[in-house]
Amino acid sequence: MPNFGNYEQIIKDFSWSISEQELDYKPGQVINIGWYCSDRICQQGKADKTALIWEGFSGAKKIYTYNDVRLCSNTIARFITGLGINAGERVCLFLDRIPELYLGFLGILKTGAIVQPLFSAFGEESLFVRLENARTSAIFTQKKHLSKVRKIRDKLPDLKHIIIVDYDGKSPLQEREVPFSMENTEKIENYEVYPTYAETPSVLHYTSGTTGQPKGVQHVHYSLISQYITAKWVLDLRDDDLYWCTADPGWVTGTSYGIIGPFSLGVTQFVLDSGFSAEAWYRFIERNRITVWYSAPTAIRSLMKAGDEIIKKFDLSSLRHLASVGEPLNPEAVNWSIRVFGKPFHDTYWQTETGCIVITNFPGMSVKPGSMGRPFPGITATVLNHSNHEPYPEPGRIGLIGLKPGWPSMMRTYWNNEEAYKNKFRNGWYLTGDRARIDKDGYFWFVGRDDDVINTGGHLVSPFEVESALLEHQAVAESAVVSKPDPINMEVVKAYVTLKPGFTASKDLELDIMNFIRKKLSPLAMPQEIEFVDSLPKTRSGKIMRRILHAKEWGEEIGDTSTLENE
Ligand code: PRX
Repeated sequence: MPNFGNYEQIIKDFSWSISEQELDYKPGQVINIGWYCSDRICQQGKADKTALIWEGFSGAKKIYTYNDVRLCSNTIARFITGLGINAGERVCLFLDRIPELYLGFLGILKTGAIVQPLFSAFGEESLFVRLENARTSAIFTQKKHLSKVRKIRDKLPDLKHIIIVDYDGKSPLQEREVPFSMENTEKIENYEVYPTYAETPSVLHYTSGTTGQPKGVQHVHYSLISQYITAKWVLDLRDDDLYWCTADPGWVTGTSYGIIGPFSLGVTQFVLDSGFSAEAWYRFIERNRITVWYSAPTAIRSLMKAGDEIIKKFDLSSLRHLASVGEPLNPEAVNWSIRVFGKPFHDTYWQTETGCIVITNFPGMSVKPGSMGRPFPGITATVLNHSNHEPYPEPGRIGLIGLKPGWPSMMRTYWNNEEAYKNKFRNGWYLTGDRARIDKDGYFWFVGRDDDVINTGGHLVSPFEVESALLEHQAVAESAVVSKPDPINMEVVKAYVTLKPGFTASKDLELDIMNFIRKKLSPLAMPQEIEFVDSLPKTRSGKIMRRILHAKEWGEEIGDTSTLENE
């Protein structure tokens, strides 16, 4: 029997106090995610239970019990308080998916500091804007990423400590650099966890919007209340599960459900720190007898592409529950999964801002392939009329997905940008920025985003950020960035570029610009195609009309062009 029972009944009786009680939390008490995910599990008699099994791409393997997680996070907490970092300061994790990332996440939270996880694939420009915005005090990184940090540290006066977790002594440390070795540091048995409360800031995740630089989504320790119960009910995590979340903690899935959810439930989870390969993934599932698998549509489409034959080589019978997040999950992917694994991928819909799954196909509920499912109990979700932001009274209408604020893991603000935060609300509804329709059974069907943000393989890329970076290339005069269709990633980045005098379009120049963006921003933000043009479509007031280029890429109607400059 799944953890989650009858939907109609639970919706009727639900209150977040169910989760509070299971976590022995009473309003007004101290609540610290780091403590809940390690010390509390040990106190429940699971100190020797395996918490984390980590595998590196070279086959390296490390295993941590809950007691190890407790000790290691204590040790990291003591180390950073020893550096003089205070509660409320921002500490960044700029690491591959190595154990220090998971242990550091909990350790930072134990000190009362705010943890800022960032993708290690980010180039120096992406890193810089996020560290500058958050006025980050310290960064954990590895030798291999150090050169990016060194390039920007002089522009970051607040960044006082650059902590290298794999320093080998071979080259001298530079200013502000300090080594930390998890293996060689004496473990701290007793660390007095900082008394954080429900509204104390915890995690700062950066997300891309349509305009301006990425925004820091600020969460609080109380988010645990949602993350715990959604991990239990939606991912159906149980005590004997062997759980694999494929997401990187640079992304909210990798923290809410790759750290907080499973660890607060005392579940054993696996991390595979290597790139994608169908064979390697199936082997990983088989070898580790994975029971619950949380992944993303792009990965699922890549598995589909690898074919059904390869699946027959592996015993994947351990899989009990499958879930997906990040982009629309096509009905073909759900049907394929039923065919090859004997069970569907359950779609889950949410955002960095929501902190937890808000709409989903629950275990045990009949899945309508292609639909995102129904709202989680305690979440009021609707589809709003575009013009007056009132919920449509009848099913079937396409509008904006709106959520009633107030669930525990709702973001509290955008870091240092209260105005952008306020702008996300209309008529008392939080606007997700997505469009959908609801059918007569109350199931939500995703239609698309309501802005220009590009969702490539589940990762949001801001056209603005790519355009800004393009302008820094010596050959680029102007640019417009849109998405173009892609069979695996759904959409990828495409740039239209006009060149400065003296530069001529060529394949070499295209590659050079692509590489420039990859290094500056990230491989995901890198345009997969650059089209050199003589001019870009603009409004009479000079604003570039991405909409027209977007329509061209997707073979859609161009719509009203009456404001076009060159009409
Ligand atoms: O557009 C929606 C899409 O991803 C956006 C949120 O991205 P991010 O903040 O990076 O968080 C991703 C992980 C929670 C949403 O606004 N999205 C997310 N899940 C789905 C989805 N689109 C369709 N179906 C989903 N299940």
